[in-house]
Amino acid sequence: MELTITQPDDWHLHLRDSDLLHAVAPHSASTFRRAIVMPNLKPPITTTAAAIAYRESILKALPSGSSFDPLMTLYLTDTTSPSEIKLARQSGVVYGVKLYPAGATTNSQDGVTDLFGKCLSVLEEMVRQNMPLLVHGEVTDPDVDIFDREKVFIETVLEPLIQQLPQLKIVMEHITTMDAVKFVESCKEGFVAATVTPQHLLLNRNSLFQGGLQPHNYCLPVLKREMHREAIVQAVTSGSKKFFLGTDSAPHERRRKESSNGCAGIYSSPIALSLYAKVFEEEGALDKLEAFTSFNGPDFYGVPRNSSKVTLKRDPWKVPELFSFSFGEIVPLFAGRTLQWQVVSD
Ligand code: DOR
Ligand code: ZN
Repeated sequence: MELTITQPDDWHLHLRDSDLLHAVAPHSASTFRRAIVMPNLKPPITTTAAAIAYRESILKALPSGSSFDPLMTLYLTDTTSPSEIKLARQSGVVYGVKLYPAGATTNSQDGVTDLFGKCLSVLEEMVRQNMPLLVHGEVTDPDVDIFDREKVFIETVLEPLIQQLPQLKIVMEHITTMDAVKFVESCKEGFVAATVTPQHLLLNRNSLFQGGLQPHNYCLPVLKREMHREAIVQAVTSGSKKFFLGTDSAPHERRRKESSNGCAGIYSSPIALSLYAKVFEEEGALDKLEAFTSFNGPDFYGVPRNSSKVTLKRDPWKVPELFSFSFGEIVPLFAGRTLQWQVVSD
């Protein structure tokens, strides 16, 4: 059986820089036409000038002839200025501004400490420029249980934010809870949407501990209970336009994952489309796959849908145990497991 769909975009991707960028960019480019590229490099991409330079280095890392189009983002800090948002809009290459609460995740130490106190004028300029805010939705208070941090963020940040700035476009990135599903469903279409990763559709928190500690299933926000996974699966297969594909593919070298203080981040870009197809097939909703992978994202961001196609074939294949590079190895999600759907052409 074959399934031909409009080529997907990845609305949440970490491409890194240097060796890692060269290693992973071709994987994304072989499936996706565009991607929203996260700015959490060291140092972070806080200016339009840095975003333009980063975009150039991504283009150089692509295979020749690739038509992959990186859509850039800025990293919001306490000192980002409204004029930087104007520059970002004028550049034509910046598509969103990423909010990392300071300390929430990898390279978030320069993130925002007080959104309402420090960033209000920037958020108002984003409304004027129709620039989406892309949100890592977790509070950072160490006294809040790590499994509750998304829910508390919705209550203490997102709900007040949409009250105060109802015209701000917001993408709640990589949602992990039933609470996030309900929140996004309750908001106005076209203003609030969410990206969904393959791991949060396929795994629950048991996967972190099954047969011993599983560092390659560790990401942030961390996997949650089964009932949350089920709610997210229901949301994406419902046909709602508010949910779209964002892999949050976040490569780290194997030795940095398999260590004490192992990094958060799951590498999924080479297998992500097969995994999403698995989810939709298991729900009997393959007819809804294309809207999730290829329509809802561009419609929300206000960019044209792709005209290119990809074909998925139902033909079992084994996910590689790892990808080897001169600098080290990267272990993908579902390493060594058999999947039914494979991407065969574009
Ligand atoms: O697991 C994660 N990894 N979550 C994030 O928010 C950041 C990402 C990374 O950059 O590695
Ligand atoms: Zn991410």
